[in-house]
Amino acid sequence: MAKPPFGLYIHVPFCATRCGYCDFNTYTPGELGSATSPAQYLDALEQELAMAQTQPVSSIFIGGGTPSMLGWEGLARILGMIKREVGIQPGAEITTESNPESTSPEFFHQLRQAGFTRISLGMQSASSRVLEILGRAHTPGRAFEAATEAKAAGFDHVNLDMIYGTPYEHDEDVAHTLDRVLETGVDHVSAYSLIVEDGTAMARKVRKGELPAPDEDVYADRYAMIDARLQQAGFEWYEVSNWAKPGGQCEHNLLYWRDGDWWGAGPGAHSHIGNERFFNVKHPATYAAQLAQGALPIQDREHLSAEQRHEEQVMLGLRIREGVPLELFNAAEREVLARYEAMDLVEVGQRVRVTQAGRLLADGIIADILTAR
Ligand SMILES: C[S@@+](CC[C@H](N)C(=O)[O-])C[C@H]1O[C@@H](n2cnc3c(N)ncnc32)[C@H](O)[C@@H]1O
Ligand code: SF4
Repeated sequence: MAKPPFGLYIHVPFCATRCGYCDFNTYTPGELGSATSPAQYLDALEQELAMAQTQPVSSIFIGGGTPSMLGWEGLARILGMIKREVGIQPGAEITTESNPESTSPEFFHQLRQAGFTRISLGMQSASSRVLEILGRAHTPGRAFEAATEAKAAGFDHVNLDMIYGTPYEHDEDVAHTLDRVLETGVDHVSAYSLIVEDGTAMARKVRKGELPAPDEDVYADRYAMIDARLQQAGFEWYEVSNWAKPGGQCEHNLLYWRDGDWWGAGPGAHSHIGNERFFNVKHPATYAAQLAQGALPIQDREHLSAEQRHEEQVMLGLRIREGVPLELFNAAEREVLARYEAMDLVEVGQRVRVTQAGRLLADGIIADILTAR
């Protein structure tokens, strides 16, 4: 009998430079100084995996930061540690994120040999103007070359991340980006509207009036454009911001959205097991120091009440195409659902799901449903 899904997320907290819009838990060599080297990080990670309360995993996702900064040698070493310390179920999906500028044909070839099954590349845009505003380190062409190299190395599953709605981006930039994406033959696209996160270089520019704030109407138009073009090319949406060709869905991300169980290892990584949620200390030096003392580097834990669990299931489940079972909702929530059904924004059957028109409004609909409870 197949074991229930259990995921493993590994956070790699290094980037060569920081993109102007990004507030992820990641550090440039200048910010870290001599605090923690990639080699020390790998040693600490091995200690965490040896202590982690996991079971053989059905999916692995190495994310960041920039995992490709560890080189194929570092990533293959992580996979070896997981095999030894945790165990991997047969047929597991094994993804690593990679930044286009730190990859090569040899890098992809070695990762495929090591057992990785999926590559996710940060592409963002095919426009050099947009990449410059975003503060990305690579040229527009490199992401597409990298996707082609990954496929040539034997990766059937390749994702390109894109960001839309950047100030000064035009419809033509998005159309051109989609043309280039489709040329590569990748089987997965994630497209996110640009979020101006507090504390980032981009937020400072917007505050000082040096950069206009992104426009919500533009987001909606660009989303419709992306969705139409991808559907035409044989992709289906399976989460509001994610599209895949048949068989190309990311099982690891689906596990998050289906309210599954996973262990998150590495600085700042979050875990979710049953009714428990916990997360690690953020700084790589604190993380390594705690493990060196033989302690799991957990910053805080939270026990989830039945109500919180319900909120999570609805919040995550209504953003995926498969939706959530109707039986999850109480009478007050079903009244709200009926209102949205009358507006053609949700479909209510044995499962509840958002319609094409409801997709972009999903977060507002979810908030309304949950406040009715
Ligand atoms: C955190 S990055 C990690 C992957 C890798 N370092 C990279 O940049 O390609 C994952 C993705 O999140 C998206 N992202 C990060 N910050 C964002 C923001 N402020 N707004 C929209 N998307 C964002 C980008 O598309 C990025 O590729
Ligand atoms: S978007 Fe990716 S490369 Fe840029 S700073 Fe964030 S994690 Fe690093």
